[in-house]
Amino acid sequence: MIDDITAARDDALAAVANAENPDAISAVETTTLGKRGRLATLKTQLGTLDTIDAKREAGRALNDAVTEVTAAVERRRDALRAADDAARIESERIDLTETTSRPTRGHRHLVTQAWERLEDVFVGLGFQVAEGPEVESDWFNFEALNMGEHHPARNEFDTLFTDHVPPGGRPGSAVLRTHTSPVQIRTMLDDEPPIYIVAPGRVFRRDTPDATHLPVFHQIEGLVVDEGISMAHLAGTIEAFTKAFFGSDFTSRLRPSYFPFTEPSAEFDIRTPRGDWLELGGCGMVHPNVLRHGGIDPERWSGFAFGFGIDRMSKERHGVVDIREMFTDDIRFVEQF
Ligand code: DAH
Repeated sequence: MIDDITAARDDALAAVANAENPDAISAVETTTLGKRGRLATLKTQLGTLDTIDAKREAGRALNDAVTEVTAAVERRRDALRAADDAARIESERIDLTETTSRPTRGHRHLVTQAWERLEDVFVGLGFQVAEGPEVESDWFNFEALNMGEHHPARNEFDTLFTDHVPPGGRPGSAVLRTHTSPVQIRTMLDDEPPIYIVAPGRVFRRDTPDATHLPVFHQIEGLVVDEGISMAHLAGTIEAFTKAFFGSDFTSRLRPSYFPFTEPSAEFDIRTPRGDWLELGGCGMVHPNVLRHGGIDPERWSGFAFGFGIDRMSKERHGVVDIREMFTDDIRFVEQF
Protein backbone atom coordinates (compact mmCIF):
# COMPACT_ATOMS: atom_id res chain seq x y z
CA MET A 1 0.00 0.00 0.00
CA ILE A 2 2.70 2.47 1.02
CA ASP A 3 4.57 1.65 -2.16
CA ASP A 4 1.45 2.31 -4.24
CA ILE A 5 0.97 5.67 -2.52
CA THR A 6 4.61 6.62 -3.05
CA ALA A 7 4.40 5.58 -6.71
CA ALA A 8 1.18 7.58 -7.26
CA ARG A 9 2.77 10.63 -5.60
CA ASP A 10 6.04 10.41 -7.57
CA ASP A 11 4.20 9.94 -10.89
CA ALA A 12 2.05 12.97 -10.11
CA LEU A 13 5.04 15.14 -9.13
CA ALA A 14 6.89 14.16 -12.31
CA ALA A 15 3.82 14.89 -14.46
CA VAL A 16 3.38 18.29 -12.79
CA ALA A 17 7.04 19.15 -13.35
CA ASN A 18 6.69 18.31 -17.05
CA ALA A 19 3.35 20.10 -17.53
CA GLU A 20 3.83 22.83 -20.14
CA ASN A 21 0.35 24.38 -19.95
CA PRO A 22 -2.65 24.77 -17.61
CA ASP A 23 -4.52 21.87 -19.24
CA ALA A 24 -1.68 19.46 -18.50
CA ILE A 25 -1.75 20.53 -14.86
CA SER A 26 -5.51 20.09 -14.63
CA ALA A 27 -5.13 16.61 -16.06
CA VAL A 28 -2.71 15.65 -13.28
CA GLU A 29 -5.10 17.11 -10.73
CA THR A 30 -7.94 14.94 -12.02
CA THR A 31 -6.01 11.70 -12.33
CA THR A 32 -4.25 12.04 -8.96
CA LEU A 33 -6.28 14.23 -6.65
CA GLY A 34 -9.75 13.90 -8.22
CA LYS A 35 -12.70 11.93 -6.79
CA ARG A 36 -11.80 8.92 -8.88
CA GLY A 37 -8.10 9.70 -8.94
CA ARG A 38 -5.34 7.40 -7.87
CA LEU A 39 -5.00 8.71 -4.32
CA ALA A 40 -8.77 8.70 -3.72
CA THR A 41 -8.95 5.14 -4.98
CA LEU A 42 -6.14 4.10 -2.63
CA LYS A 43 -8.04 5.78 0.20
CA THR A 44 -11.05 3.52 -0.38
CA GLN A 45 -8.72 0.54 0.00
CA LEU A 46 -7.54 1.57 3.48
CA GLY A 47 -10.21 -0.70 4.97
CA THR A 48 -8.57 -3.75 3.47
CA LEU A 49 -5.50 -3.29 5.63
CA ASP A 50 -5.14 -5.68 8.55
CA THR A 51 -3.91 -3.65 11.49
CA ILE A 52 -4.83 -0.28 12.97
CA ASP A 53 -1.19 0.72 12.77
CA ALA A 54 -0.96 -0.13 9.11
CA LYS A 55 -4.14 1.86 8.46
CA ARG A 56 -2.81 4.81 10.38
CA GLU A 57 0.54 4.71 8.58
CA ALA A 58 -1.07 4.47 5.14
CA GLY A 59 -3.59 7.19 6.03
CA ARG A 60 -0.80 9.57 7.01
CA ALA A 61 1.14 8.75 3.86
CA LEU A 62 -1.98 9.47 1.79
CA ASN A 63 -2.54 12.86 3.46
CA ASP A 64 1.12 13.82 2.98
CA ALA A 65 0.94 12.78 -0.69
CA VAL A 66 -2.20 14.89 -1.24
CA THR A 67 -0.57 17.92 0.44
CA GLU A 68 2.64 17.57 -1.57
CA VAL A 69 0.95 17.11 -4.93
CA THR A 70 -1.46 19.98 -4.27
CA ALA A 71 1.44 22.32 -3.41
CA ALA A 72 3.38 21.23 -6.50
CA VAL A 73 0.33 21.90 -8.69
CA GLU A 74 -0.02 25.43 -7.30
CA ARG A 75 3.68 26.23 -7.67
CA ARG A 76 3.70 25.00 -11.25
CA ARG A 77 0.58 27.03 -12.08
CA ASP A 78 2.19 30.20 -10.69
CA ALA A 79 5.40 29.56 -12.60
CA LEU A 80 3.53 29.03 -15.88
CA ARG A 81 1.50 32.19 -15.31
CA ALA A 82 4.64 34.27 -14.61
CA ALA A 83 6.33 32.90 -17.72
CA ASP A 84 3.20 33.73 -19.68
CA ASP A 85 3.17 37.35 -18.38
CA ALA A 86 6.85 37.80 -19.13
CA ALA A 87 6.35 36.52 -22.67
CA ARG A 88 3.43 38.88 -23.22
CA ILE A 89 5.34 41.91 -21.89
CA GLU A 90 8.26 41.01 -24.12
CA SER A 91 6.02 40.69 -27.19
CA GLU A 92 4.28 44.01 -26.49
CA ARG A 93 7.51 45.89 -25.89
CA ILE A 94 7.94 49.16 -27.79
CA ASP A 95 11.38 50.53 -28.43
CA LEU A 96 11.24 54.21 -27.59
CA THR A 97 14.90 54.84 -28.32
CA GLU A 98 14.53 54.38 -32.04
CA THR A 99 15.74 57.84 -33.07
CA THR A 100 18.52 58.44 -35.50
CA SER A 101 20.25 61.06 -33.34
CA ARG A 102 20.34 61.99 -29.69
CA PRO A 103 17.90 64.76 -28.79
CA THR A 104 19.71 67.97 -27.95
CA ARG A 105 19.30 69.78 -24.66
CA GLY A 106 17.26 72.99 -24.82
CA HIS A 107 17.60 76.13 -22.76
CA ARG A 108 15.48 78.72 -21.05
CA HIS A 109 14.05 81.63 -23.02
CA LEU A 110 16.43 84.60 -23.26
CA VAL A 111 14.07 86.75 -21.19
CA THR A 112 13.70 84.04 -18.55
CA GLN A 113 17.48 83.74 -18.35
CA ALA A 114 17.83 87.50 -17.82
CA TRP A 115 14.93 87.56 -15.32
CA GLU A 116 16.49 84.77 -13.23
CA ARG A 117 19.97 86.32 -13.30
CA LEU A 118 18.54 89.68 -12.27
CA GLU A 119 16.83 88.04 -9.30
CA ASP A 120 20.08 86.29 -8.37
CA VAL A 121 22.11 89.48 -8.53
CA PHE A 122 19.63 91.52 -6.48
CA VAL A 123 19.17 88.75 -3.93
CA GLY A 124 22.97 88.76 -3.66
CA LEU A 125 22.77 92.49 -2.88
CA GLY A 126 20.29 91.79 -0.06
CA PHE A 127 16.96 92.35 -1.84
CA GLN A 128 13.89 90.15 -1.57
CA VAL A 129 11.67 89.23 -4.53
CA ALA A 130 8.09 90.54 -4.53
CA GLU A 131 5.22 90.21 -6.99
CA GLY A 132 1.81 91.62 -7.81
CA PRO A 133 -1.13 90.86 -10.12
CA GLU A 134 -1.07 91.47 -13.88
CA VAL A 135 -4.65 92.72 -13.85
CA GLU A 136 -4.35 95.77 -11.66
CA SER A 137 -6.71 98.45 -10.44
CA ASP A 138 -6.47 102.00 -11.70
CA TRP A 139 -5.61 103.05 -8.16
CA PHE A 140 -2.50 100.87 -7.85
CA ASN A 141 -1.34 101.39 -11.43
CA PHE A 142 -1.78 105.20 -11.51
CA GLU A 143 -3.48 106.98 -8.65
CA ALA A 144 -1.33 105.71 -5.79
CA LEU A 145 1.74 106.42 -7.90
CA ASN A 146 0.89 110.11 -7.90
CA MET A 147 -0.88 110.04 -11.27
CA GLY A 148 -4.35 111.36 -10.54
CA GLU A 149 -7.29 110.98 -12.90
CA HIS A 150 -6.25 113.83 -15.21
CA HIS A 151 -2.48 113.48 -14.95
CA PRO A 152 -0.96 113.87 -18.45
CA ALA A 153 1.57 111.09 -17.79
CA ARG A 154 -1.27 108.57 -17.95
CA ASN A 155 -1.48 109.04 -21.70
CA GLU A 156 2.12 107.96 -22.17
CA PHE A 157 1.28 104.49 -20.92
CA ASP A 158 -1.08 103.42 -23.75
CA THR A 159 -3.14 101.49 -21.29
CA LEU A 160 -5.13 98.32 -22.04
CA PHE A 161 -8.39 98.27 -20.08
CA THR A 162 -10.29 95.12 -19.15
CA ASP A 163 -14.01 94.44 -18.77
CA HIS A 164 -13.35 92.99 -15.33
CA VAL A 165 -14.80 95.09 -12.52
CA PRO A 166 -12.76 94.62 -9.34
CA PRO A 167 -14.59 94.34 -6.00
CA GLY A 168 -15.54 97.88 -4.96
CA GLY A 169 -14.24 99.28 -8.26
CA ARG A 170 -16.09 101.06 -11.03
CA PRO A 171 -16.32 99.75 -14.62
CA GLY A 172 -13.15 100.55 -16.57
CA SER A 173 -11.04 100.77 -13.44
CA ALA A 174 -9.24 97.46 -14.04
CA VAL A 175 -6.24 97.66 -16.34
CA LEU A 176 -3.53 95.32 -17.50
CA ARG A 177 -0.68 96.80 -15.49
CA THR A 178 1.40 99.09 -17.67
CA HIS A 179 4.49 98.80 -15.45
CA THR A 180 5.71 96.93 -12.37
CA SER A 181 5.58 100.10 -10.23
CA PRO A 182 2.21 99.20 -8.59
CA VAL A 183 4.10 96.43 -6.76
CA GLN A 184 5.80 99.28 -4.85
CA ILE A 185 2.45 100.25 -3.34
CA ARG A 186 1.37 96.68 -2.65
CA THR A 187 4.65 95.97 -0.88
CA MET A 188 4.46 99.13 1.24
CA LEU A 189 0.89 98.28 2.27
CA ASP A 190 1.83 94.67 3.08
CA ASP A 191 5.18 95.16 4.84
CA GLU A 192 6.66 97.55 7.35
CA PRO A 193 9.91 99.31 6.44
CA PRO A 194 12.78 98.66 6.10
CA ILE A 195 11.89 97.43 2.61
CA TYR A 196 14.41 96.13 0.09
CA ILE A 197 12.60 94.42 -2.79
CA VAL A 198 12.76 93.80 -6.50
CA ALA A 199 9.65 92.83 -8.47
CA PRO A 200 10.14 91.31 -11.91
CA GLY A 201 7.00 90.77 -13.96
CA ARG A 202 5.00 90.93 -17.15
CA VAL A 203 3.53 94.27 -18.23
CA PHE A 204 1.24 95.36 -21.06
CA ARG A 205 0.79 98.36 -23.35
CA ARG A 206 -1.34 99.08 -26.40
CA ASP A 207 1.60 99.17 -28.79
CA THR A 208 1.92 97.97 -32.36
CA PRO A 209 4.76 95.44 -32.46
CA ASP A 210 7.90 96.66 -34.20
CA ALA A 211 11.64 96.05 -33.90
CA THR A 212 11.81 97.68 -30.46
CA HIS A 213 8.26 97.36 -29.07
CA LEU A 214 5.94 94.55 -28.06
CA PRO A 215 2.53 94.96 -26.38
CA VAL A 216 3.55 92.36 -23.78
CA PHE A 217 6.96 92.75 -22.21
CA HIS A 218 8.79 92.46 -18.91
CA GLN A 219 10.13 94.87 -16.34
CA ILE A 220 11.90 94.67 -13.03
CA GLU A 221 11.07 97.15 -10.29
CA GLY A 222 13.22 97.97 -7.30
CA LEU A 223 12.12 99.63 -4.06
CA VAL A 224 14.06 100.57 -0.96
CA VAL A 225 12.43 102.28 2.03
CA ASP A 226 14.49 102.84 5.15
CA GLU A 227 15.66 105.61 7.46
CA GLY A 228 18.09 108.12 5.96
CA ILE A 229 17.97 106.78 2.38
CA SER A 230 19.44 109.30 -0.08
CA MET A 231 20.16 109.69 -3.77
CA ALA A 232 23.71 108.46 -3.04
CA HIS A 233 22.30 105.08 -1.99
CA LEU A 234 20.38 104.95 -5.26
CA ALA A 235 23.45 105.74 -7.38
CA GLY A 236 25.56 103.28 -5.40
CA THR A 237 23.01 100.50 -5.78
CA ILE A 238 22.70 101.06 -9.55
CA GLU A 239 26.50 100.98 -9.84
CA ALA A 240 26.84 97.82 -7.72
CA PHE A 241 24.13 96.15 -9.76
CA THR A 242 25.79 97.18 -13.04
CA LYS A 243 29.11 95.64 -12.08
CA ALA A 244 27.56 92.48 -10.62
CA PHE A 245 25.27 91.89 -13.60
CA PHE A 246 27.23 93.12 -16.63
CA GLY A 247 30.82 92.87 -15.35
CA SER A 248 33.37 94.97 -13.48
CA ASP A 249 34.37 96.84 -16.67
CA PHE A 250 30.87 98.31 -17.02
CA THR A 251 29.79 101.49 -15.27
CA SER A 252 26.60 103.55 -14.86
CA ARG A 253 25.38 107.14 -14.79
CA LEU A 254 22.21 108.99 -13.82
CA ARG A 255 20.64 111.74 -15.95
CA PRO A 256 17.98 114.12 -14.59
CA SER A 257 14.50 113.20 -15.77
CA TYR A 258 10.88 113.29 -14.69
CA PHE A 259 8.52 110.63 -13.32
CA PRO A 260 5.39 111.45 -11.30
CA PHE A 261 6.21 108.88 -8.62
CA THR A 262 9.77 110.02 -7.86
CA GLU A 263 11.25 113.39 -6.87
CA PRO A 264 13.95 113.97 -7.89
CA SER A 265 13.83 111.57 -10.85
CA ALA A 266 16.54 110.28 -13.13
CA GLU A 267 17.18 107.94 -15.99
CA PHE A 268 20.11 105.59 -15.75
CA ASP A 269 22.45 104.43 -18.49
CA ILE A 270 25.05 101.67 -18.60
CA ARG A 271 28.42 102.23 -20.24
CA THR A 272 29.87 99.23 -22.04
CA PRO A 273 33.66 98.60 -22.12
CA ARG A 274 33.61 99.83 -25.75
CA GLY A 275 32.29 103.17 -24.57
CA ASP A 276 28.68 102.90 -25.80
CA TRP A 277 25.89 104.04 -23.51
CA LEU A 278 22.83 101.84 -23.11
CA GLU A 279 19.75 103.60 -21.73
CA LEU A 280 18.32 101.19 -19.22
CA GLY A 281 15.53 102.65 -17.11
CA GLY A 282 14.10 105.18 -14.71
CA CYS A 283 14.69 105.81 -11.04
CA GLY A 284 14.49 108.39 -8.30
CA MET A 285 13.61 109.16 -4.71
CA VAL A 286 10.12 107.87 -3.87
CA HIS A 287 7.68 110.81 -3.88
CA PRO A 288 6.22 111.62 -0.43
CA ASN A 289 2.68 111.16 -1.83
CA VAL A 290 3.61 107.65 -2.96
CA LEU A 291 4.98 106.79 0.50
CA ARG A 292 1.76 108.12 2.04
CA HIS A 293 -0.38 106.01 -0.32
CA GLY A 294 1.66 103.03 0.85
CA GLY A 295 0.84 103.89 4.46
CA ILE A 296 4.37 105.09 5.24
CA ASP A 297 5.23 108.33 7.05
CA PRO A 298 7.50 110.40 4.76
CA GLU A 299 8.73 112.41 7.76
CA ARG A 300 10.38 109.32 9.18
CA TRP A 301 11.17 107.16 6.14
CA SER A 302 12.63 107.86 2.72
CA GLY A 303 13.30 105.60 -0.21
CA PHE A 304 14.40 105.14 -3.78
CA ALA A 305 12.90 103.19 -6.65
CA PHE A 306 13.96 102.09 -10.09
CA GLY A 307 12.48 100.18 -13.00
CA PHE A 308 13.67 98.93 -16.34
CA GLY A 309 12.77 96.62 -19.21
CA ILE A 310 14.12 93.07 -19.12
CA ASP A 311 13.44 92.22 -22.79
CA ARG A 312 15.24 95.29 -24.06
CA MET A 313 18.22 94.61 -21.87
CA SER A 314 18.40 91.00 -23.06
CA LYS A 315 18.00 92.13 -26.65
CA GLU A 316 20.96 94.53 -26.36
CA ARG A 317 23.09 92.04 -24.52
CA HIS A 318 22.72 89.39 -27.21
CA GLY A 319 22.83 91.81 -30.12
CA VAL A 320 19.33 90.89 -31.31
CA VAL A 321 18.26 93.36 -34.00
CA ASP A 322 14.48 92.83 -33.88
CA ILE A 323 12.85 92.16 -30.51
CA ARG A 324 10.02 90.24 -32.21
CA GLU A 325 12.51 87.52 -33.15
CA MET A 326 12.93 86.67 -29.48
CA PHE A 327 9.33 85.46 -29.34
CA THR A 328 8.96 83.59 -32.63
CA ASP A 329 10.24 80.24 -31.29
CA ASP A 330 12.07 79.81 -34.59
CA ILE A 331 14.56 77.04 -33.82
CA ARG A 332 17.21 78.64 -36.06
CA PHE A 333 17.03 81.75 -33.89
CA VAL A 334 16.77 79.95 -30.55
CA GLU A 335 19.74 77.66 -31.23
CA GLN A 336 22.13 80.59 -31.46
CA PHE A 337 22.03 81.17 -27.72
N1 DAH B 1 7.47 102.66 -14.25
C1 DAH B 1 8.33 103.38 -15.16
C2 DAH B 1 7.97 103.00 -16.58
O1 DAH B 1 7.44 101.97 -16.83
C3 DAH B 1 9.78 103.08 -14.89
C4 DAH B 1 10.24 103.64 -13.60
C5 DAH B 1 10.74 104.93 -13.53
C6 DAH B 1 10.15 102.90 -12.44
C7 DAH B 1 11.16 105.48 -12.35
C8 DAH B 1 10.57 103.46 -11.23
C9 DAH B 1 11.09 104.77 -11.21
O2 DAH B 1 10.53 102.77 -10.10
O3 DAH B 1 11.52 105.26 -10.02
O4 DAH B 1 8.25 103.76 -17.47
